[in-house]
Amino acid sequence: MPITTAVTLLHTDGVGSAGDYLRAVEAGRCDSVDLLAVAVGAGGAVAVDETLDAVLGVSLAEVVAAAQLSGKPGQATSAVAKLGDAVLRVMFVGVGDRSASDLRKAGGELARQVRPGESAVADLCAGLTDDQLSALAEGIMLGSYRYSEKSADAEAPAKGTDVRLLVRLQADSADDAVSRAAAVAAAVALARDLANTPSARKCPQWLAEAAAEVATRAGLEMRVWDEQQLAQAGFGGIAAVGSGSARPPRLIQLRYAPPCARRHVVLVGKGITFDSGGLSLKPNDGMKLMKTDMAGGGAVIAVMSALAKLGVADRVTGLIAAAENLPSGSAFRPDDVITQYGGTTVEVRNTDAEGRLVLADAIAYADAELAPDQIVDVATLTGASRIALGGVRAALYSTCEELADGLLAAGEASGDRLWRMPLPDDYADLLDSSVADLANVPAGDEGGGSITAALFLRNFVGGRPWAHLDIAGPARSTSDEGDVTAGATGFGTRLLLNWLA
Ligand code: BES
Ligand code: MN
Ligand code: ZN
Repeated sequence: MPITTAVTLLHTDGVGSAGDYLRAVEAGRCDSVDLLAVAVGAGGAVAVDETLDAVLGVSLAEVVAAAQLSGKPGQATSAVAKLGDAVLRVMFVGVGDRSASDLRKAGGELARQVRPGESAVADLCAGLTDDQLSALAEGIMLGSYRYSEKSADAEAPAKGTDVRLLVRLQADSADDAVSRAAAVAAAVALARDLANTPSARKCPQWLAEAAAEVATRAGLEMRVWDEQQLAQAGFGGIAAVGSGSARPPRLIQLRYAPPCARRHVVLVGKGITFDSGGLSLKPNDGMKLMKTDMAGGGAVIAVMSALAKLGVADRVTGLIAAAENLPSGSAFRPDDVITQYGGTTVEVRNTDAEGRLVLADAIAYADAELAPDQIVDVATLTGASRIALGGVRAALYSTCEELADGLLAAGEASGDRLWRMPLPDDYADLLDSSVADLANVPAGDEGGGSITAALFLRNFVGGRPWAHLDIAGPARSTSDEGDVTAGATGFGTRLLLNWLA
């Protein structure tokens, strides 16, 4: 159970304010509550609820002022109060100016304050639009995400928690907002689960099986190329990268085709189930988190899982290029020349620049066979993008202004933020090779490693509107913060769902 908190709505018609609700709890007319969350807005603003003050025997506004709470989004402070014979924790949650991203943060921190088995009531929704309510619910669910391989959890899974959101108006649209949030959060949790799974279990075939489960549940068509079919059909990049592992590569295709679709989008995900660097072996420090090198592919599977639930009207095809990059007697080598799907030859200068080789096959295949209107690829492609942009923003490269603008807007709205990067033509000849059509990396140490990786991919899009998301920075996090949890973040899932829906 990766998301441990269930979010439900508590319509206050018949209940009244949070204070009225606590009175009803006191009188045994409503379910008990362990924690009450109240919102602190920008500047320490707190809504006046005289009944609540009376029940708790203290003015909340005075508490907030005395504690000098600023309402900074996600800031959380708890106090205890007596509620009849019971003890109630009152949690003050900063909601900032109630932007979607502030509310996601607040929701995430709230989820972390609720202990296993507890039940919380959140009085945070006054005056929120459906989109804001959705962001809050999403933050709570994603903040409660946990991935555990602890033996104690396997024996007795931790109890879940539940958060009831007090909403003042009975409106179906509020229920819809929470269901939408639940669909998005479940998809993000799936992406996190896939990327958090250790590579001992997670090989390309395992990823294909995970995709098959999604296809069955979500009613998608699926096709998988095994290693023989890949070699036969000319997917030379995927075949080469996967050749060093005893667990062979796969290309996974998922198809979502609603009636009367206007555009066809192809999503391509990097699915390196472990990246050791291959014969260009990484040092341990660079290798130890490389189970998440399929995070882009995982995000594509997760997006595909939620399209029907969210009523996406476009045709969407997901391609996940899956391989394990290991050194061995059968591994591909530096100086090898490989032939990508469609015939372009590539000199391999570094087997650790493997992501672009598997993506190039999938992108060239999409261009040649699927006639997409737009291609978007998602990949943990370069450490350089993490150095350039840090752990929050992903690098966006695009050959199409409209596509770039749409993705940037979806990034701001969804919380998966992007920063546009350039595709300078004068850097392209850094990838010239004297023996092949292209080299996979520049010959020297020119810098701009995320840019040259994007320029490499651009050779395979056939002039179609294309965007590339280098998510090496935000795909994983070292700490819990707001709606992001330590480990894989599922980055890209919300972004693409927001863009498509
Ligand atoms: N999977 C890595 C990129 C990566 C690095 C992702 C750190 C997340 C965190 C990719 O396959 C890789 O090894 N890239 C090389 C490229 C280089 C050989 C040109 C890199 O970034 O060092
Ligand atoms: Mn690599
Ligand atoms: Zn990699």
